[in-house]
Amino acid sequence: MAQAPTLTDGTVTIRAHRADDAQGAYEQSQDPLSQRWTTVPVPYAMEHAHAFVGEFMPKGWTDDSEWGFAVEVDGRYAGTISLRNEGSGRAEIAFGSHPWVRGTGAIERALRLMLEWGFAEQGLQTVVWYANRGNWASRKLAWRLGFSFDGTLRSWLPHRGELLDGWVGILLHDDPREPRTTWLANPVVEGDGVRLRPFTEADVPRVVEGIGDAGTQYWLAFMPRDPGEAEGRAYLETVQERLATNHTITWAFCASDDDRLLGVVGLYRMDVEPEVGYWAHPEARGQGLTTRAAGLAIRYAFETLGLERLAAYASAPHAASRRVLEANGMRPTGIQRNAARTGAGEVVDLAGYDLLATDVRT
Ligand SMILES: CC(C)(COP(=O)(O)OP(=O)(O)OC[C@H]1O[C@@H](n2cnc3c(N)ncnc32)[C@H](O)[C@@H]1OP(=O)(O)O)[C@@H](O)C(=O)NCCC(=O)NCCS
Repeated sequence: MAQAPTLTDGTVTIRAHRADDAQGAYEQSQDPLSQRWTTVPVPYAMEHAHAFVGEFMPKGWTDDSEWGFAVEVDGRYAGTISLRNEGSGRAEIAFGSHPWVRGTGAIERALRLMLEWGFAEQGLQTVVWYANRGNWASRKLAWRLGFSFDGTLRSWLPHRGELLDGWVGILLHDDPREPRTTWLANPVVEGDGVRLRPFTEADVPRVVEGIGDAGTQYWLAFMPRDPGEAEGRAYLETVQERLATNHTITWAFCASDDDRLLGVVGLYRMDVEPEVGYWAHPEARGQGLTTRAAGLAIRYAFETLGLERLAAYASAPHAASRRVLEANGMRPTGIQRNAARTGAGEVVDLAGYDLLATDVRT
């Protein structure tokens, strides 16, 4: 096929690139996210943009190597999407939006138009998605479109002279074009002078202090030993990963009038036996803050998520942790003997608790 067809869903149009898209392509390639997550040349000059829209994209159509489309919304250039022809009914999807259109769902619409065209008109059977590990916006979009998430390929994606770990997923011709799995949310929840909220980069130092503190290290043996910034960042990545895989809803908690992280509360193992858990930054202990934060998470579990039962486990000798659960009305279910270890390697009993939706209603 010599040129991209023009396709529209009434809101978003995808079409062949034009010379006057160069300015938008130039602006898009200055954006830090585009530079971080794609292989655009850095620095990116206006000549790159002219060559991209005038030569590189048209050439993909003439030699059938890449079917690229400009995305247009309200008459304005909004990004570039493509299917790279891998032969034998296979293609790789690629996409990048101009910052002005992010968060509007426009790129998702554009990708749906392109995918249906590729499956119907190019006879595609399998479309593969790759992203550099950590590109959550890309992963969420692929998930929304119905791609599977099939894991991480170590040192696979070339990126400015390096090989980065790559996430990979697949969409088949006959797959439903909708999420295959549950992606949990950790929205802001507020009450009792406490706020549960998603994490931000700014939380990393406080997370490092909180998980590295002697008390946390003693009672939570699974925490990384002697954590530094890398472990703090890895903690935040794990929070995202567990939301994306229906495992755990983790919030940072803070005071209503101060955004500084005071601790963490989570609803763990959502797909198996939902369980409330928490830790507090050393500055926040002894003030009832964790009890209130756990209370908000417990209420969210029953009232918003509609759970029937919530479990909790604390090391039996850990009085403060048990107090958080008991103050929230959780009921003892028994002791599991020698079921846990402290960070110092001592074997301890585990105290079980639970709370049922029917307990809360009465
Ligand atoms: C990928 C891209 C096209 C997605 O655009 P978009 O769908 O309009 O959406 P946004 O960028 O607003 O983010 C999509 C979702 O990811 C989420 N997200 C973004 N960054 C995140 C992060 N660091 N952690 C967790 N979630 C994140 C957003 O909250 C949003 O979720 P929501 O819609 O449920 O609120 C756009 O971000 C982009 O052009 N990025 C640069 C180029 C790129 O990465 N291309 C893909 C290469 S594989």
